[in-house]
Amino acid sequence: MAEKISVLISEEDVDKRIQEIGEQISKEFEGQEVHLICVLRGGSFFMCELAKRITVPVTLDFMQVSSYGSETKSSGVVKIVKDLDDPVNDKNVIVVEDIIDSGRTLSYLLEMIRKRGPKSMTLCTLLDKPERRVVDVHVDYTGFEIPDKFVVGYGLDYDQRYRNLPYIGVVELEEES
Ligand code: IMP
Ligand code: MG
Repeated sequence: MAEKISVLISEEDVDKRIQEIGEQISKEFEGQEVHLICVLRGGSFFMCELAKRITVPVTLDFMQVSSYGSETKSSGVVKIVKDLDDPVNDKNVIVVEDIIDSGRTLSYLLEMIRKRGPKSMTLCTLLDKPERRVVDVHVDYTGFEIPDKFVVGYGLDYDQRYRNLPYIGVVELEEES
């Protein structure tokens, strides 16, 4: 089956919202530094754009996890594929995610980072599908709440493709003629 991508959130709207979140973070952390932790790979595009719009000093680190379980359902048991390079203690950590779905992977990840003793820890996600939540996670900054549809672009993939789309799109499968 071929796929067709339809625009859900335009590039202009995504950029505008990231600017607003950047301004909000800059205001809330005025006079302090923030340490952005990107959850690879999906969070990378959002983190770069967000970091450019934060005016307080920013440091960056990256983490990659994989969730045990089937392709469609994360189990919440997480394997660390790439751990952080730097300690987080006494830093204002902001975890930057592409999307929160069931919340299973993220709640495990947040707990793990919390145990390492950051000064503060907040969560920032570009997209949130609240209807899909299984595990309660507190989100501090949300770009957009979206319906329960499979989306791609701005870092999000379908079978590793479409991460580079500059907008958020919905994947529609079409019968090939
Ligand atoms: P969960 O919150 O533990 O269920 O897993 C969230 C992860 O599933 C995200 O970080 C994405 O990698 C992936 N994911 C969830 N929904 C979508 C989607 O609509 N498009 C692409 N990836 C998704
Ligand atoms: Mg992700």
